[in-house]
Amino acid sequence: MTTKCFAGLCRLKTLQLLDLSSNELEGNLPRCWANLTSLMTIVISSNQFTGDIALSPLVNLTSLIVLELSYNDFQIPISFRPFFNHSRLEKIECLYCDFLLGTDEFQASVPSFQLDDIRLSAAGNSSVAVPKFLYHQHNLERIYLGEISFSGKSFLWLIENNTELMALVLHNNSFTGPLQMPSNPIPKLTELDIASNHFSGNIPEDIGTSFPGLQVLKMSANSFTGTIPSSFGDMASLVHLDLSRNLLSGNIPNSLGMGCSSLQFLRLSNNNLQGSILPAHHNLTDLHSLELHVNNFTTIPNSLSICHNLVMLKINLNHLDGPFPTAICQLKFLQYLDMSENNITGILPACFSPPDIQFVQLSKNRLQGPLPRAFLNCTRLQVLALGHNQLTGPIPIWFDSLSSLNILLLNDNHFEGEILSQLCHLSELSLITLSNNNLSGSITPCLGNITFRPFLNRIRIQQLGVLPFREPLRPYADELEIYQAYIVEELVPFVTKSNPRVYFREMLDYFSGIDLSCNNFVGHIPPDIGKLFHLKSLNLSHNSLSGTIPVTFANLTGTESLDLSYNRLTGNIPSQLANLDSLQVFNVSFNNLSGPIPQGPHFQTFDGMSYISNQLLCGMPVSRNCTDPELAPVTPRTRKGTEFMDMETFYVSFTAAYITMLLGVLAVLCINPYWRRAWFHLVEVSLRYCYYVVVDNLP
Ligand SMILES: *[C@@H]1O[C@H](CO)[C@@H](O)[C@H](O)[C@H]1NC(C)=O
Ligand SMILES: *[C@@H]1O[C@H](CO)[C@@H](O)[C@H](O)[C@H]1NC(C)=O
Ligand SMILES: *[C@@H]1O[C@H](CO)[C@@H](O)[C@H](O)[C@H]1NC(C)=O
Ligand SMILES: *[C@@H]1O[C@H](CO)[C@@H](O)[C@H](O)[C@H]1NC(C)=O
Ligand SMILES: *[C@@H]1O[C@H](CO)[C@@H](O)[C@H](O)[C@H]1NC(C)=O
Ligand SMILES: *[C@@H]1O[C@H](CO)[C@@H](O)[C@H](O)[C@H]1NC(C)=O
Ligand SMILES: *[C@@H]1O[C@H](CO)[C@@H](O)[C@H](O)[C@H]1NC(C)=O
Repeated sequence: MTTKCFAGLCRLKTLQLLDLSSNELEGNLPRCWANLTSLMTIVISSNQFTGDIALSPLVNLTSLIVLELSYNDFQIPISFRPFFNHSRLEKIECLYCDFLLGTDEFQASVPSFQLDDIRLSAAGNSSVAVPKFLYHQHNLERIYLGEISFSGKSFLWLIENNTELMALVLHNNSFTGPLQMPSNPIPKLTELDIASNHFSGNIPEDIGTSFPGLQVLKMSANSFTGTIPSSFGDMASLVHLDLSRNLLSGNIPNSLGMGCSSLQFLRLSNNNLQGSILPAHHNLTDLHSLELHVNNFTTIPNSLSICHNLVMLKINLNHLDGPFPTAICQLKFLQYLDMSENNITGILPACFSPPDIQFVQLSKNRLQGPLPRAFLNCTRLQVLALGHNQLTGPIPIWFDSLSSLNILLLNDNHFEGEILSQLCHLSELSLITLSNNNLSGSITPCLGNITFRPFLNRIRIQQLGVLPFREPLRPYADELEIYQAYIVEELVPFVTKSNPRVYFREMLDYFSGIDLSCNNFVGHIPPDIGKLFHLKSLNLSHNSLSGTIPVTFANLTGTESLDLSYNRLTGNIPSQLANLDSLQVFNVSFNNLSGPIPQGPHFQTFDGMSYISNQLLCGMPVSRNCTDPELAPVTPRTRKGTEFMDMETFYVSFTAAYITMLLGVLAVLCINPYWRRAWFHLVEVSLRYCYYVVVDNLP
């Protein structure tokens, strides 16, 4: 950008508002802007402006009220001293700014402005004390200081100095020590976020009486210990409470359930909390989202049923036992349920059929019996994970009503019977895992009619969009995106077996696969499976499949992992498979395959373990040579030799063997000791000669 482009602009001497945000402007700010002395609001965020702000024309614009500089490449002194003469300044916003540190210490001067809104965060990982000019502010209503590694033992003075303060966000800094409470209650404060700092000690007993007006309280990812104080019940306006990732213990206090009747979003995950997931008597009827995973909770009270508006319930990794709670059947708006890794027993009650449910994760419990019609009409269900339970009976025919199902995990149960063609009606399916069951019969060819288009992370938890953050103080990542990310993240341990982190993480967003391993499937592999060119992973291992590997598998061009081991497959490995460039894992070991192993750049990356225990396979990398499969296996060779040298070596060794045989026979026939000695001498000489011939011809 050149100054010329702004020549016209600089003539607008009475201009009051200039908004050039979200362009691709770069370079220094034009000098002539110094003439725009009437400017009150300047918004130049999200460009690529550079230069030292202290030398820019902005220091001349002393009428400024609003200054927004976020997302540029300016260098800005953290002291903000160049703006100390801007007596009308009320709002400074500088997010992801490049702050110049260290000059703050020597400043004795006092700014002439009294801000009501300040938002600072740093682009780098700098560590800095809270800037001194803030000590002189007493009109602040909103403070956002995030991700700068601001350090200090207390922020109490910020609250006490600024009696109008409504929102204080200090997340992702380096504040330490125990939390201190103001001497008098601060009813105007509605939002307090001190998440991701290094606070420790107990949460002050009087937190609720000190901040009775809080609507949003976030204290996650610190090291708070002790119990949740009962004064939380005094925060009657609380909508959003996050105490996750601390070291809290004890029960959820009754007062919280009775007093915080506006609560919509409660997150207490990753602590050591125990007892009941909610108090037996509570008023939390507005709750949208309840996240209590990774704690020591043992019971689910009947009072859960009054949370009519619950959309998300995450109570996995606790010590919950007993039967599946019927209280959950009453949650008519439930979209997301994760109760995995508990000790839930008994059958899934037929009453559990929330019409909007999208995600059900009940893996690693002790659920038993056949699947009733629990999910009947759950047409929006996208993920159903019931792996590692003790479920029995056939795979239910009503599954075909789950028309949105993307991911079906039924592995490690006792399901039996055949895979019914009803499963093939699940046209949205991208991942199905039936491994480690007692399923039998043949593999239904209609599986080839499902496209197994990759799972594109399509989960949407509606209604959680109405989170209580007041605009415009909301420089957070979209909460919905976070949910989607961890929905997928938490599925990963359940869909992976070998090498989970590396291999599957990469394809988290576009995963698709079929795993039928460890069952009693018989018959041929249907050639229709070869139509699934989207498929990333196919595992048919540990069954009793017979017949040949279908030639159609040459069309599995997207497949990265193909495991057909431990079956009774016969015939050749189709040579066309050599063209499957995506293949990273290939296993046909423990079958009865024969003939040459396909050769190609990709197949050379698979070692002998892919083929072991197939007596009649030949060619690299196994020891058997394809030119004479009826001979006993020759010794293993390295992979270096070319085909030409292999043949030469073969002829040499064949000739040597022939001569040795002939001489040996003659020697045996000769009974005379003298001749015997002479013949043996000749044999020895010949052998030595042959040896040198072979050695000389080796590459
Ligand atoms: C500011 O305006 C004056 C005329 O009013 C002009 O002479 C001067 O060059 C301008 N300054 C800049 C930096 O453009
Ligand atoms: C502020 O104004 C005073 C006098 O009016 C001046 O001495 C000082 O240099 C100015 N500071 C800045 C940063 O412009
Ligand atoms: C604000 O707090 C700081 C630190 O406690 C103190 O030095 C300063 O005088 C206070 N300012 C006002 C305006 O009260
Ligand atoms: C905290 O800051 C670090 C780097 O400064 C960043 O990577 C991380 O995403 C931030 N966390 C949150 C919760 O904003
Ligand atoms: C598996 O199913 C067969 C019948 O198909 C049955 O005989 C066998 O007992 C079952 N095995 C287990 C472990 O349930
Ligand atoms: C296929 O399934 C078997 C048994 O479930 C497992 O041991 C093997 O690692 C799987 N193969 C691949 C490539 O993941
Ligand atoms: C393996 O296949 C050959 C034919 O290719 C057959 O003669 C032999 O019986 C099979 N062996 C087993 C163990 O199935």
